[in-house]
Amino acid sequence: MKLRLNLLFAGMLSLAATTAMAAGAPDAATLAKGHSLFENNCSACHQAHGEGMPGVFPNLAKSDFLAADPQRAVHFVLHGHSGQITVNGVTYDGSMPDVGASLSNADVADILTYVLNSWGNPGGQIQPDAVAQVRSGGGNGGSGASEGGSQK
Ligand code: HEC
Repeated sequence: MKLRLNLLFAGMLSLAATTAMAAGAPDAATLAKGHSLFENNCSACHQAHGEGMPGVFPNLAKSDFLAADPQRAVHFVLHGHSGQITVNGVTYDGSMPDVGASLSNADVADILTYVLNSWGNPGGQIQPDAVAQVRSGGGNGGSGASEGGSQK
């Protein structure tokens, strides 16, 4: 009985370790997939290295707006966004289409994980579950902040 409990405990520990790893360091396959999806779905506007076009398409590289609330980016990708936002001191009043509406939750997660781990951004990982939640309208995911902050 004692042995079995120990085994169970060891199992739980390794599960916790795996989960922690997944949260901290995305694997190479995720980043590679995110990279190619980014090129197909985002780089036309945000440019190949996320540099954007000042005043027209906001930068994703070193974006303070993105770093402040990565979950909010899930909303942008799934639902698009129109209205004023400020990124690194530059005001944008453009319109982003809902590019993620036709992508899977895993694809959206991989793209944003790639973006968060590229071009001097702070890192981190977006899980497909978090995308699913936003897609189904659940979870606040920072939507209050993004909608409340925009002025139309
Ligand atoms: C057709 C052009 C276009 C495409 C394609 C596009 N975006 Fe955007 N994106 C914009 C515009 C314009 C804004 C600013 C919207 C506003 O002013 O409300 C924006 C804003 C953002 C923001 C928040 C601001 C920032 O710079 O941090 C993020 C994050 C973002 N886009 C990510 C993406 C990702 C990821 C993709 C691909 C899945 C993508 N976008 C595809 C035009 C585009």
